Amino acid sequence: MAAKETIDFRSDTVTLPTEEMLEAIRHAELGDDVFGEDPTVNRLEKLAAERMGKEAALLVTSGTQANLISLMSNTKRGELVILEAESHIYWYEVGGISMIAGLLPWPVKSPLGALDPEDVEAAILPQNIHFPEPALICLENTHNRHGGTIITPDQIKAINEVAQIHGMKLYLDGARIFNAAIALRVDVKEITKYVDNLMFCLSKSLCCPVGSLLVGTDEFIKKSRKLRKVLGGGMRQAGIIAAPGIVALERMIDRLEEDHRNARLLAEGIAKIKGIQIDLSYVQTNIVCFDISGLGIAADLFISKLKEKDILALTLAENKVRMVTHRGIEKEHVEKSIAAIESISNELHLELK
Ligand SMILES: Cc1ncc(COP(=O)(O)O)c(C=O)c1O
Repeated sequence: MAAKETIDFRSDTVTLPTEEMLEAIRHAELGDDVFGEDPTVNRLEKLAAERMGKEAALLVTSGTQANLISLMSNTKRGELVILEAESHIYWYEVGGISMIAGLLPWPVKSPLGALDPEDVEAAILPQNIHFPEPALICLENTHNRHGGTIITPDQIKAINEVAQIHGMKLYLDGARIFNAAIALRVDVKEITKYVDNLMFCLSKSLCCPVGSLLVGTDEFIKKSRKLRKVLGGGMRQAGIIAAPGIVALERMIDRLEEDHRNARLLAEGIAKIKGIQIDLSYVQTNIVCFDISGLGIAADLFISKLKEKDILALTLAENKVRMVTHRGIEKEHVEKSIAAIESISNELHLELK
């Protein structure tokens, strides 16, 4: 009997490495990266810097570690960091910004994840003996909690102008930066050229098992390399991680368009289902978030009903559900999932009658 197939929409981090990645790992040339002697890591870092149009790059263990190192590299303890109120750094990184980096996060709200330059300007505290020094502005592109929304190069440019006026650095959490570039149909450098430094993840929709890259000036990367060591992120034969990263940068980016098409198909399908509310203007890349208040049950229960049908999703809030498309989710999976959600909605509406 064929094994039952589970369709996993929880995150684009659940992807498994491709055969080509496994082959690349098998044949990777290795050395001790703490001594700077792993040729595969060195190749990946060079490639990442070139792709992003910056001087240098550094392989780190995770997106969270990349963000923490950048916060520390770009600031001094006690300084103020402006970030979007729903940003990953503020919500999901265990408060490392305060606990480890010793910084004061200053959240600024936005409807779609792109900070308004006027709001940023208003949040920058004037020179005053009572206030911390404003040092850094952080952006997130695409924006996870807002549902994979995109910040355009023009929007980043406008924030960059504010940062420059106030002598602040501009950092981009670009965990899914290639999703933004593919959806906008621009070279990724169009997005990176207005920020001082950034990170992107290999382990999200690019299918690598582990790893993120920090990218910026030689000086920023030199400082970050030392901070990575202090945080316990100095790795030895890290070519094992870097080898699939090279495959990802060379081959896995163009296919993101397929994930975006599937997300749109899913969103448009569930938009027609009774009891579900979804704002299609938020569905810009591979993340689909929707409100299930109209079904009369909490998101946790909705998710367990989906699980009974071998479909996995995540709760975003009491009435909000998130589904993410990635390599491994095909059009047929999307169609099957729309039908499953429709049947849950029908059952619940029958119960209500
Ligand atoms: C926008 C964003 N930044 C950072 C991270 C953290 O990455 P990691 O899970 O590799 O620590 C994530 C993870 O989902 C993310 O979505």
